[in-house]
This record gives sequence, structure tokens and C-alpha cells, in this order.
Amino acid sequence: MGSTKLLLVLFCLLLIISSSSAAHKKKMQARKPCKRLVFYFHDIIYNGKNARNATSAIVSAPAWGNRTLLSGKSHFGDVVVFDDPITLDNNLHSTPIGRAQGFYLYDKKENFTAWLGFSFVFNSTAHKGSINFAGADPLMNKTRDISVIGGTGDFFMARGIATLMTDAFEGEASATHKTKSRKPCKTLVVYFHDILYNGQNAENATSAIVAAPAWGNKTILAEQNHFGDIIVFDDPITLDNNLHSAPVGRAQGLYLYDGKQTFSTWFGFSFLFNSTDHKGIITLAGADPFLEKTREIPVIGGTGDFFMARGIATFMTDAFEGEEYFRVPVNISFYECW
Ligand SMILES: *[C@@H]1O[C@H](CO)[C@@H](O)[C@H](O)[C@H]1NC(C)=O
Ligand SMILES: *[C@@H]1O[C@H](CO)[C@@H](O)[C@H](O)[C@H]1NC(C)=O
Ligand SMILES: *[C@@H]1O[C@H](CO)[C@@H](O)[C@H](O)[C@H]1NC(C)=O
Ligand SMILES: *[C@@H]1O[C@H](CO)[C@@H](O)[C@H](O)[C@H]1NC(C)=O
Ligand SMILES: *[C@@H]1O[C@H](CO)[C@@H](O)[C@H](O)[C@H]1NC(C)=O
Ligand SMILES: *[C@@H]1O[C@H](CO)[C@@H](O)[C@H](O)[C@H]1NC(C)=O
Ligand SMILES: *[C@@H]1O[C@H](CO)[C@@H](O)[C@H](O)[C@H]1NC(C)=O
Ligand SMILES: *[C@@H]1O[C@H](CO)[C@@H](O)[C@H](O)[C@H]1NC(C)=O
Ligand SMILES: *[C@@H]1O[C@H](CO)[C@@H](O)[C@H](O)[C@H]1NC(C)=O
Repeated sequence: MGSTKLLLVLFCLLLIISSSSAAHKKKMQARKPCKRLVFYFHDIIYNGKNARNATSAIVSAPAWGNRTLLSGKSHFGDVVVFDDPITLDNNLHSTPIGRAQGFYLYDKKENFTAWLGFSFVFNSTAHKGSINFAGADPLMNKTRDISVIGGTGDFFMARGIATLMTDAFEGEASATHKTKSRKPCKTLVVYFHDILYNGQNAENATSAIVAAPAWGNKTILAEQNHFGDIIVFDDPITLDNNLHSAPVGRAQGLYLYDGKQTFSTWFGFSFLFNSTDHKGIITLAGADPFLEKTREIPVIGGTGDFFMARGIATFMTDAFEGEEYFRVPVNISFYECW
């Protein structure tokens, strides 16, 4: 079991930065954070014997490894999906105030480093919403900084830095913050349609399970809320809810199931538009707590017509035709436009 202390520093950067001069960089480093939070999250990795208590599982390993034991000396190539409780102190048994959910992968052959994509999903009276992270984590370092790429709810449009500290034991206070009410500078509604490969629909499937925990496989979604399954997709985007309407682009990337007790997913993908109305790419990353009727996911960047855009995408699930087909209407609101 490992506990990680996380000091979160959010820069409430509402202005658009247009300069990257050295002087400007200096100024950025000198900025005072507008919010500071401290959390602990606790990870118990699946080892073949602790199915009930494990909060994480290896879902993919290189040829020389397997999914019950981290491979080799540096675990290079292992991909781990996790659903860890977050607490305000260093005690695993304190009441969790949310979940840290997502994935990491070991990405260095001769030493420990990892790359993480994950979210803090809060559902307590103190905090609601999500904080989404992505980046490198040089695990050998006692303290490591990782980027906050977006936030929703109480953490609307947040950016900042999280400092991860392994096995730190001092506690600190937390703070809360109210959501800003801002008007979007641009909105867009699209639908994407996903047909999951099930062993029989190779021709029509738009997505496929590419990694699963030791207790699963790649044709059937795994037990325990599909925890650990990673799905790669190439879904058509339409402007209405009809799968057979002319697509205006593709939704491409991955999602993974990262909830053990309830359905929950994490998305890292892009909308690639190639129509007369829209050309360019919108990239999204973050938690999608599947069971909620509407879920907010950060828009972390754009190209083409969406140059440098940031915002929030609201996912709504409106059709379930078995586990194999789902359709997601998405309302995208941009709060930073160029
Ligand atoms: C699960 O955790 C409980 C309490 O921490 C412990 O008593 C039990 O032995 C654990 N079970 C497994 C399978 O690890
Ligand atoms: C996984 O690999 C370890 C070490 O290489 C080995 O001891 C263990 O039996 C393997 N487990 C499975 C389920 O293959
Ligand atoms: C958040 O908490 C409320 C009230 O306890 C519950 O109804 C809801 O399902 C929870 N949402 C998630 C995503 O866990
Ligand atoms: C691995 O990391 C440790 C701690 O940062 C460092 O002392 C060591 O030299 C590194 N080893 C290699 C092979 O990079
Ligand atoms: C490693 O930690 C030191 C001091 O704690 C810090 O100055 C340095 O930037 C860290 N390196 C990385 C790559 O995070
Ligand atoms: C693919 O979809 C078409 C039209 O929706 C249908 O006629 C066909 O049976 C499907 N094929 C498979 C293998 O599911
Ligand atoms: C995958 O798992 C399911 C249920 O656990 C099983 O019915 C199916 O035969 C498995 N498929 C393969 C290809 O192993
Ligand atoms: C975009 O559409 C045009 C015209 O249909 C086509 O020629 C081009 O290859 C498409 N580009 C991509 C990246 O799909
Ligand atoms: C999504 O956008 C449509 C059209 O702008 C609007 O009617 C609908 O209320 C929006 N839904 C949500 C949940 O924001």
C-alpha cells in the first residue's frame, strides 16, 4: 500500500496569456496561487490475492510481464488503472472526500518514472466537481510537480500545479472556493456514437477494448463495473442524434473505466472536425462520472477554428442500446476564445 500526499496550487488565471517572453515567464513563476489544497490518496495494487481491497490493477504489461506482478526492475511498460480514496489526512480509514481516478504508466526502462492522466472527483459537502491532471511524474524524486489541466464545478476552469509527495505524514488545512459565473465565448453541440467490439461486430465496431485487468479479457467488459478496461475509439460525430446522419468529424482517443464501486470513466480524446462549418481539433481530458445525468469534462486545447481554446464540455447520456452502443450528446462551452 502506498499513500501519496498532494499539495495543490491553483492559479486562477482568467486572462489569456499571449506572450511567452522570458520576462513574462518570470512573472508567472512569481505569481501567488489563489487556492491551496492538501489531500492524501491511498493506493492498494491488485496482486492476485486482494481482489476485494485493491484500488488499482495492472491492465496492460509488456511481453515479459503480466497483470499480477509489476514487471522487471522499473516496471517499464506496465499500465495501471486506479480508483483510490482521497482523504484530508494521512489515514487510509478516514472518511474519503472523493476519489482519485485514472491511469498511470511506467515509462522509463532504467529508473522509475511514470506518466499520469487522472482526476480528483469530489462529491462531498466541502467540494463538488473535478480537478484534472496530466503529465510526467519522476517517481524517484521526493517531490514532483504535475500540471492541473482543467477543472469543473467548484474548480471551474482551474489551472495550476500539484506537488506530489510520497509517504508524507504531516497534515494541512484545506480551503474552499466558489464557482465563477462566466459567459461562454462560443458554444457547440455535437453527438458522438460508440459501437464497442464484442467479438462479432468487427465490421461495424468503432471502438475496442485494448487492455483489461487480470480478471478480464478484450471481448467482454470486465466485472466490477468494468474497472480497468481501456477502450480506444474512432467514433463518428454528428450534429443530431442520428447515428446515420452525415458525420462532421470523428471523436478519437481513449476512455477507461476507473470506478470499482460505481461506473466511472476517464476520457482523453479529441474531436477532429473536417466539415465546411468547422475545421480543427478540440482536445478533452478528464473524469466522466458516468452515472450522473450530466458530466463536465475540461476542454484543454484546440487547433484550427478552435485555436488555443479552453472550456468545459458537458456530456449527457441519452441512449443505451445494451453495453455495445451508446450515444453521447456533448454541449461544449468555450471560456477562452481567440
Ligand atoms: C482487506 O482489508 C481488511 C481491512 O484492512 C483486512 O482485514 C483484510 O484482510 C483485507 N483483505 C484482503 C483480501 O486483503
Ligand atoms: C507473473 O510473473 C511473475 C514473475 O515473473 C510470476 O511469478 C507469476 O507467476 C506470474 N503470474 C501469472 C498469473 O502469470
Ligand atoms: C454524489 O453524492 C450524492 C449524494 O450522496 C449521490 O446521490 C450521487 O450519486 C453521488 N455521485 C457520485 C458520482 O458518486
Ligand atoms: C535513478 O534515480 C535516482 C534518484 O533520482 C538517481 O540517484 C539514479 O542515478 C537514477 N538512475 C539512473 C540509472 O538514471
Ligand atoms: C526534484 O525535486 C527537487 C527538490 O525537491 C526539485 O527542485 C526538482 O525540480 C524536482 N525535479 C523534478 C523533475 O520534478
Ligand atoms: C453492420 O451494420 C449494418 C447496418 O447497420 C448491418 O446491416 C450489418 O448487419 C452490421 N454488421 C455487423 C457485423 O454487425
Ligand atoms: C471473455 O470473458 C467472458 C466472460 O468472463 C467469457 O465468456 C469469454 O469467453 C471470454 N472471451 C475470451 C476470448 O476469452
Ligand atoms: C477532410 O475532407 C476533405 C474533403 O472531403 C478530404 O479531402 C480530406 O482528406 C479530409 N481530411 C481528413 C484529415 O480527414
Ligand atoms: C445543451 O445545449 C442545447 C442547445 O444549446 C440546450 O438546449 C440544452 O439545454 C443544453 N443542455 C445542457 C445540459 O447544458
